[in-house]
Amino acid sequence: MKNYRRYLITSALPYANGPLHIGHLAGVYVPSDIYTRYLRMKGLDVISICGSDEHGVPITLKARNEGITPQEVVDRYHAINKKAFEDFGIAFDIYSRTSNKIHYETASDFFLTLYKKGEFVEKTSEQYYDEEAGCFLADRYIVGTCPHCGNENAYGDQCEKCGTSLSPNDLINPHSTISGSKPVLKETLHWYLPLDRYEGWLRKWILEDHKEWKTNVYGQCKSWIDQGLQPRAVSRDLDWGVPVPVEGAGGKVLYVWFDAPIGYISATRELTPDWEKYWKDPETKIVHFIGKDNIVFHCIIFPSMLRAEGSFILPDNVPANEFLNLENDKISTSRNWAVWLHEYLEDFPGKQDVLRYTLCANAPETKDNDFTWKDFQARNNNELVAILGNFVNRTLVLTGKYYEGYVPERGETTETDRSVLEEISKIRENVESSLESYRFREALREAMNLARLGNKYLADSEPWKLVKNEPGRVRTIMNISLQITANLTIILEPFLPFSMSTLRKWINITLKPWDDAGRDDLLPAGHRIGEPGLLFEKIEDSDIEKQINKLVSVKKANLAATSQAMPSKDPVSFDDFTKIDIRTATILEAEKVPKTTKLLKLKIDTGLDVRTIVSGIAEYYDPAAIIGRQISIVANLESRKIKGIESKGMILMAEDRDGKLVMVTPESPVSNGSAVK
Ligand code: 2FM
Ligand code: ZN
Repeated sequence: MKNYRRYLITSALPYANGPLHIGHLAGVYVPSDIYTRYLRMKGLDVISICGSDEHGVPITLKARNEGITPQEVVDRYHAINKKAFEDFGIAFDIYSRTSNKIHYETASDFFLTLYKKGEFVEKTSEQYYDEEAGCFLADRYIVGTCPHCGNENAYGDQCEKCGTSLSPNDLINPHSTISGSKPVLKETLHWYLPLDRYEGWLRKWILEDHKEWKTNVYGQCKSWIDQGLQPRAVSRDLDWGVPVPVEGAGGKVLYVWFDAPIGYISATRELTPDWEKYWKDPETKIVHFIGKDNIVFHCIIFPSMLRAEGSFILPDNVPANEFLNLENDKISTSRNWAVWLHEYLEDFPGKQDVLRYTLCANAPETKDNDFTWKDFQARNNNELVAILGNFVNRTLVLTGKYYEGYVPERGETTETDRSVLEEISKIRENVESSLESYRFREALREAMNLARLGNKYLADSEPWKLVKNEPGRVRTIMNISLQITANLTIILEPFLPFSMSTLRKWINITLKPWDDAGRDDLLPAGHRIGEPGLLFEKIEDSDIEKQINKLVSVKKANLAATSQAMPSKDPVSFDDFTKIDIRTATILEAEKVPKTTKLLKLKIDTGLDVRTIVSGIAEYYDPAAIIGRQISIVANLESRKIKGIESKGMILMAEDRDGKLVMVTPESPVSNGSAVK
């Protein structure tokens, strides 16, 4: 492994348009903080960079909705998020922001360098324009009716009701959210970064030279490169952002994803006049901590920008995490489905480390993972309290009781004693090797093995039984337990900085360098330790129920807000109703209709006959899983041909708000052909 002279750690700049939640911490900031703290403890030259990403359309939309300026929006969330990071001990060297003057200068200069070198392609294209307001419209500024679900407030890029991706052309009755008028297409000029030019170089740099990158990152890069890269527009028609520094480019700004990663550079410039050595000297190791939705920007686009500029080095690694879900559902700001960091601290004051621990132990490193309050409780009660807290407490209480708080002398050691002491260095090495390869869950598990080791050592040697008759032996056992305790304050420091700082106060030592872990003399005989408290407290069922109830209320509120039942249809006479022959039937066979994604061909027993019905349920039901299922059908619907198959009748389905189809099945089995009335 190459030895670097210095380290530049960046963590994705969160958008300053909302508060932070546990998904942010788990995906990006807890791992980056652990890694940075570890490097600092190694005594290395390391800086950790972050800040607010303050541009982009969602911020302008939020400002418009609230009747304030985009600057006011970002001022609010920059302050909130900066504080949340501080509260959770995420120790950046700088938390900057992209609305800073230094960032405008850096981003402008960067663009100009590429512009002057001829690294952009200029292209005119047609974009939607609001003639009344006199401005081009980002897709999010166009709303209309979703052609899929009829939602009248679908955006030009997505319908948030049914989740379908859209383009403004797909919308029925599109109109501008600014003036309400119908947008027209108009030509506009933009600057494109021709990623296609970098394809060969990217293929070698990532796919050949960085085979060690995490599989999720490597796989996403490979798939992008294999699909063929296209030129990407790096400017937008918008009035919020870094102005395009070219004559005649009035009303155009840099695309937020062009300026945001340059934010890492501006923040470094703001931090130190010596910034260039972190960005331009190949002796620096750059690591970008991000979430999986940022992979293409950090592995393909930003490196291409840096290469086009020519004087920058490239990241050594981009250890992106997958997503964290909450109680089996995607975390969502708009649905308020999240554990917000500021709310967590109101409910669990002083318990930052418990969340840091849970999020690291269950980090979505290789796949999406689920945060559950039950798991949070179990991790606290069964691991932090029962293993770590218990060991530390027993050691410190016994030291107080037997030796009035003075570290006793270590006498002759047994083989067990020596192997316990040797184990400490091994644990340190294992934690190191996991951290160096960005396996933080594994690193934490290994670090906790030191507390397990201590617990087992005390439980096996039972000093409380020997204290009367073998005081010399007990002094040795307690000395060793105290050395383990002191080592814990090093090895667990990157993960649990709050608790380890408390523990250091109790045992009256300062933070030691990482490489001291493994020493058996961190607490010399005669050293005085202080009064211990409880390092971790049990979390009660009632605390967890409160959190779960909170989430249940969110679910209910969301349901109430979105469940607008379809308006009632015109009345029909009873006679008309009885003309429809609805009856029960059983599915005998089911198979997908070839070359379709939605259709299943079903053979069903209607009690009258065995017939074929083609039904658009393939997205919701696996054919093999529905054989034998009893259903309800309209038996006398005129038969019709679907994809060349004669379909006789229709299966009754309930359509959920989000378009999902669910079979209408009798509550208990009835004979086929029973009338439904
Ligand atoms: O996904 C996000 O939250 C972006 N704001 C991350 C930007 S990272 C970097 F490029 F600034
Ligand atoms: Zn829709």
